[in-house]
Amino acid sequence: MTVSRQAVHLTSHLDDTYLRQALRHDVRTGLTSTPKWLPPKWFYDAAGSDLFSRITRLPEYYPTRRELSILRRWATDIAARSGADTLVELGSGTSEKTVLLLDALAATGRLRTYTPVDVDAVTLDDAARRTSRRYPDLVVRAVCADFERHLALLPRRGRRMVAFLGGTVGNLAPSAREVFLKELRATLGPGDTFLLGADLVKDTRRLVAAYNDGAGVTAAFNRNVLHVINRELGADFEPEAFEHVALYNPRRDWIEMRLRASRPMRVWIDALGLPVSFAAGEETRTEISAKFRPEGLRRELVAAGFLPGRHYVDPTGDFLLILAHA
Ligand SMILES: C[S@@+](CC[C@H](N)C(=O)[O-])C[C@H]1O[C@@H](n2cnc3c(N)ncnc32)[C@H](O)[C@@H]1O
Repeated sequence: MTVSRQAVHLTSHLDDTYLRQALRHDVRTGLTSTPKWLPPKWFYDAAGSDLFSRITRLPEYYPTRRELSILRRWATDIAARSGADTLVELGSGTSEKTVLLLDALAATGRLRTYTPVDVDAVTLDDAARRTSRRYPDLVVRAVCADFERHLALLPRRGRRMVAFLGGTVGNLAPSAREVFLKELRATLGPGDTFLLGADLVKDTRRLVAAYNDGAGVTAAFNRNVLHVINRELGADFEPEAFEHVALYNPRRDWIEMRLRASRPMRVWIDALGLPVSFAAGEETRTEISAKFRPEGLRRELVAAGFLPGRHYVDPTGDFLLILAHA
């Protein structure tokens, strides 16, 4: 379905039927596995996106501030090197940081189109309208889609820079990341670029604190996936009976977020006709957030067929942006 409003075009590859089927599939697969798991994309309904925005402003959550500092310093350089007239942004959320890239691309005089892509239709729509008001001459082609499924369906017009910010790439397990990078590369042509933001390996205490804030916002974000399953699949989870757990796995270099059952529970998921039992203390993994080393990420990009170019690290060495060429 495509709806046009002035210069905002909205396309959705995630209609209600698709979403419910995909959620059903993921919930059945994840909650009947041992150990149990759920994919992080289901955190992000409007409430989940709002909680994520609050996370980005927490004192413990350094990645957003670090990535912003890189963009403030280097967006002009990135824009010049990309030569792009079209910015495609995967997992765009509120598109807040994107303004720095759009300003820099607009200043080159070439910018024509912005294509934000996200699973959360509400936040995507808001961000697309806000961006369109800020840049009246820009064509905003928002696409509600799953970047693990729909890359091949994204618009291919123009000389594109695909931005994937926020360290979201770390939510993909290594095998899924390999597939994602190859699929993305296959959609790009000569002259196109890929701007990838990644959180770097660092002191474990700081990493864990970033996913376990004192105000409990990340805990609420983590439990939101249970609210989504209750609402969409008629389940009777008691989200407050699950404790938020964040730990660092140094062998895999990733943060794991889990939900730990505080007592034995039996949950009924009506849309699946599925009872799910949780033992006291049983943990369900809800997210991984991989941390990277610059050389490792460059190798992954090369393996996917990219030519990694300039990379940008913030002065504290916390976060990396890398501009790769197709
Ligand atoms: C960690 S947030 C980052 C948001 C923003 N890019 C930033 O840097 O602050 C991840 C974003 O990706 C979206 N997202 C997660 N999984 C997705 C998927 N499989 N396909 C499309 N969007 C996804 C979420 O809705 C959310 O807006």
